[in-house]
Amino acid sequence: MSRGRFVVFEGIDASGKSTQARRVADERAARFTFEPGDTPLGVDLRRWLLDASAPMSPVTESLLMLADRSHHAATVIEPTLAAGDSVVSDRYWASSIAYQGYGRGVDLALLRAATELAIGACQPDVTILLDIPVEVADERRLRDHRDRFESADVAFHERVRAGYLELAAADPAHWRVIDGAGDYETVSVAIEAVLAEIGWPGG
Ligand code: TMP
Repeated sequence: MSRGRFVVFEGIDASGKSTQARRVADERAARFTFEPGDTPLGVDLRRWLLDASAPMSPVTESLLMLADRSHHAATVIEPTLAAGDSVVSDRYWASSIAYQGYGRGVDLALLRAATELAIGACQPDVTILLDIPVEVADERRLRDHRDRFESADVAFHERVRAGYLELAAADPAHWRVIDGAGDYETVSVAIEAVLAEIGWPGG
């Protein structure tokens, strides 16, 4: 049996990636999933990770994200792909490099080594970065009830965005960058062009 496709959407908060990831999965009868939090263990990890009133160090935050990812890869992503079904994930390993590495300043080499430990060879076929300016994201987000990451300052989100762009530029064979500031239809068309390019057109 051939292995399913594995496509990941990345971007700063309010980049529109969750809506697009769900659409792509629905149109292809693929398994939609997300990080952090799409396993029973992950539900608890996500609650702690997003709770702005529960401070934790950047390293602790990194390790909890990686625990979520390791469990997610082993119990959801890998088994689905091995069964021949496809997976569309809203965030994966690049979120830790961008947010905890570039954003919080955790050592990038150590984070990469820990990521390898967490996911082994479970790599996406392509990662689609929906890139938007931080000011545009800020306008889209609710101003009250912001979580730990949404309440971080503009400079943090600028570092995360720059980190994503650096990751994409360093590995053009596995990354595509799409302007996420356009309207839903325009962004959808650009995403469909990428998926057709990797041989996974919509139905
Ligand atoms: P979400 O809003 O896409 O559900 O993600 C929740 C927050 O978690 C988001 O602000 C990004 C953050 N995050 C990290 O900081 N590192 C990670 O590795 C992941 C997966 C998410």
